[in-house]
Amino acid sequence: VDSVVVGGSDITLYTTSAVVQVRALAADLIRVRANRGRSLGPDRSAAVVKHDWLPLRWSALETNRSVWLRTDELDVEISKDPLRITFFDKLGQVINAEDSVGGLKWEGASFRVTKVLPVGEAYYGFGEKAGRLNKRSAAMTMWNSDIPGYAADTDPLYQSIPFFYGIRDSTAYGIFCDNSFWSSFDMGKESPNRFSFGADSGDVNYYFFYGPLPRTVLTRFTELVGRMSLPPLWSLGYQQCRWSYAPERKVREIARTFREKKIPADVIYLDIDYMDGYRVFTWNKEKFPHPASLIKDLADEGFKVAVIIDPGIKVDSSYEVYRSGLAGDRFLKRPDGHIYIGKVWPGECAFPDYSSAASRVWWGKQFAGLVAAGVRGWWTDMNEPSVFDVPGHTVALDVVHYDDGYRTPHARNHNLYGLRMTQATYDGVRALRPDERPFILTRASYAGGQRYAAAWTGDNMASWEHLRMAIPMCLNLSISGQPFVGSDIGGFIGSPDGELYARWLQLGVFTPLMRTHTVINSADQEPWSYGPVFERINRKSIELRYQLMPYLYSSMQQATLSGIPPMRPLVFDYPGDPRAENEETEFLFGDNMLVAPVTRPGVRKRSVYLPPGAWRDFWTGSLLQGGREIVASAPLDTIPLYVRAGSVIPLQPTMQFVDGTPFRQLILQVYPGNSDAGLLYEDDGTSFAYEHGAYLKRSFSCSEERGLVSMGLTYTGGKYRPPDRLLEVRFLGVEREPAVVMANERRLPHLTGESIPAGQEGWTYDRRSGRIVARVRDSSSGLYLSAEGRY
Ligand code: GLC
Repeated sequence: VDSVVVGGSDITLYTTSAVVQVRALAADLIRVRANRGRSLGPDRSAAVVKHDWLPLRWSALETNRSVWLRTDELDVEISKDPLRITFFDKLGQVINAEDSVGGLKWEGASFRVTKVLPVGEAYYGFGEKAGRLNKRSAAMTMWNSDIPGYAADTDPLYQSIPFFYGIRDSTAYGIFCDNSFWSSFDMGKESPNRFSFGADSGDVNYYFFYGPLPRTVLTRFTELVGRMSLPPLWSLGYQQCRWSYAPERKVREIARTFREKKIPADVIYLDIDYMDGYRVFTWNKEKFPHPASLIKDLADEGFKVAVIIDPGIKVDSSYEVYRSGLAGDRFLKRPDGHIYIGKVWPGECAFPDYSSAASRVWWGKQFAGLVAAGVRGWWTDMNEPSVFDVPGHTVALDVVHYDDGYRTPHARNHNLYGLRMTQATYDGVRALRPDERPFILTRASYAGGQRYAAAWTGDNMASWEHLRMAIPMCLNLSISGQPFVGSDIGGFIGSPDGELYARWLQLGVFTPLMRTHTVINSADQEPWSYGPVFERINRKSIELRYQLMPYLYSSMQQATLSGIPPMRPLVFDYPGDPRAENEETEFLFGDNMLVAPVTRPGVRKRSVYLPPGAWRDFWTGSLLQGGREIVASAPLDTIPLYVRAGSVIPLQPTMQFVDGTPFRQLILQVYPGNSDAGLLYEDDGTSFAYEHGAYLKRSFSCSEERGLVSMGLTYTGGKYRPPDRLLEVRFLGVEREPAVVMANERRLPHLTGESIPAGQEGWTYDRRSGRIVARVRDSSSGLYLSAEGRY
């Protein structure tokens, strides 16, 4: 370091060949930028949405050896010779360091930041990656790639989220390297003592997040790059897809079969064959002669239709979308100014330039016809972008993107293509239907992509190994900021047998996106395709999903505020627990549940690790001490499922699909114990009225003392009024019959029959199952229910 300039908000250091800037955005968030020469490049990011941070307390101190930047939570030392950056906590302990061999280095256009890899540090996140949950000693690349039938060691895949956590001795930090060029991470593969990250070109621009909890890191990261917008409730229903349900008759038959067999479902997809020669925004007139009336009939049966949308626009002068794209200068161009042409499904295609705001608006307008026909969901695919029959399988690297006027090469824009396509799609369909929350499902994206779309893990395979892989993939994606994730249930390539499909569907109950999908010409892959025994088991799984919807919806709403996803690895909530570090066969679902899916053939029981604390079996309420392994019985129709003792899980009775009145009936399942018992969020399920206060938020409490179990439901905000209804409150795991059950100050009538007559308040107790069931009128003002035993 030759000179140091302490500015109002940052410290800038000049070396003979480079400039490095360190800035505190918050007490636990430090941004590091660097460039060769004397000045930093333009500050541009497709991921970052928060630019204005509150003024904060920080100080700079220069000594002979170093410059220190101190905030209330971190001390950052920047040594001068050589220039190295080390992050300390306030006790003076190193969180993350660069040693003499490490630091920042350039080679040609590329750069690399190398840091110390401490003993016992584990790494998570990195977006969509196959393989193990913990990425210690793995090397990974960020380059959106269409890899059908990928394997556990295939990398890169469809999405790039260059963000990760380091967790050691229960302390977590995060690093987000916001660079969209081809980038890579080596977490100790090359050297056992160092990890590194870098990119082929572009800015050195990374953010350091200090937890010390993983959730603090994620909340900050998603504050920086944005959070999921609240999805429509129906998109949390079961979704059925295949390549392709066509013609129209087939679509109707599938939908009808769901209703006849009373298997709940909300969404049916149309894959590429609905189009006329794969021309996006058109219909195949033979297969789908009357789309609007088909969609209307399906809507009458409770089905929402989602269609695939590919970016490639067929080169065809009689095709209106191509013509208007050409006329309006909407496509990517070669350096010589000619339109870039690449082959995808329709043959030769031009590619919309989503990096131009005007082109995004043009794209958004193309949805008018499909929106008018009643389509409700948008499945953006092939947006890595994938190009057939060319080296690299994508657009040539020198193709020019408008890039907000900077006109930069594809190399810089490649990883952003999917993100920008979903942005254009979201804005377009929202403008066309301003009162409805868009549902978009995407294959490619970049950090921050959750702002616009849900994501699935691409073209997986119908194998047990892929079922197992889906868990860590979805978990790492979830804690990389994308809560709305799922895998193709049953596997995309190939055909599962009944057992594999049933087990995969059981996992799908607990992935926010629950969608079956399969490739063209594979065997039928519907919940009833495997004979009556599996049909019954699969119905039961999907019914459970619908029962859990109030809980899942409340968890998803929380994710829109905090970034904390419903699906998370044990290590995320228990970072100091050595048993959690590599646990990738079970996971947490929302704040209060733990799921242990069966992922091997023939298996009817499995071991489950319960983290410290008291747990209860979801089904029976029986009490289980945590901090140990238990053996769970898991016959084919059962998924081992646990609930924190002291929580209340909001459920609803099973239903066939989500209609206009969400949660007409609500069941509050109480698992006695003492803890913060959870949240309940409700609104109309489809509109943006919640943004103006039309929601209802309540929190649960729960306590258990000798002889007294109780639960409370307390209003915490909003003005939405739920439907007039009785709440069914079930206390599970209650060994003795209570003498009285009180609701607020009232004594509830004790009814001794099997069940409580409809519409009536009262309670019953079933000795065999150890359950108290109470019915009381819901009032948003609050409820305190207690059951006092005869002890
Ligand atoms: C891609 C998608 C797959 C889809 C197929 C046809 O392979 O990943 O889900 O079915 O294209 O559109």
